[in-house]
Amino acid sequence: MSIRNAVLNRAKVAILDPLGLKSLPANVAAHAAMDAFVHAVESYVSLNANPITDAVNLHAIELIAANIRPFVSNRSNLQAGLNMLCAASLAAMGFSNTGVGNVHCMARFVGGFFHASHGLSNAVCLPYVARFNLKANPKKFARIATTMGEITDGLTAIEAGKLAIQAMRQLNMDLGIPERLRDIGVSKDKIPEMAHLAFKANYNRWNPRYTTVEDFDMLFKQAY
Ligand SMILES: [Fe+2]
Repeated sequence: MSIRNAVLNRAKVAILDPLGLKSLPANVAAHAAMDAFVHAVESYVSLNANPITDAVNLHAIELIAANIRPFVSNRSNLQAGLNMLCAASLAAMGFSNTGVGNVHCMARFVGGFFHASHGLSNAVCLPYVARFNLKANPKKFARIATTMGEITDGLTAIEAGKLAIQAMRQLNMDLGIPERLRDIGVSKDKIPEMAHLAFKANYNRWNPRYTTVEDFDMLFKQAY
């Protein structure tokens, strides 16, 4: 679970120094980088998004799509590391204004019950939630696709949005992130409780598609 309180936010300055990432193990780099990516995506499609958060989130998505593979491949690639740090900060400017969505909602309980890292839980849930959310804002998912470098000429917004989801799956695959919650230690019998808690956590404030307990149950089962 998250540990959060305003008194923990004492820092006035953040130093984005890629030298500090050089000793990061590859799996920690991959999980943290995917967390930043999910921040940007969830903030971009959030009900609270506005043109300013859209601008920072789209640039974060573009930077991450272009730099995440080289960064995870070699954390001594300082240009990729710096771009990732900038992207993570941009996405944080986005989501601290808009809230996040169902990916973070589900990942909270996956991490809390099964001791999977925050970024890993997020990364595994992302494609399933994106598929669920697609019809709530196809144009924004289409824009995510083009921002990730997909060719969407001549496609409808829904078709282009599906390419974004495919690109997210490919990203997970390339980073060695498993496809299913069962692969990261989740047990099926906990799903009804997690679905109930996820609904109660009220991410419907931000998530573009209204999500019932039954929807969360289905999402957890699809991801399982
Ligand atoms: Fe996060």
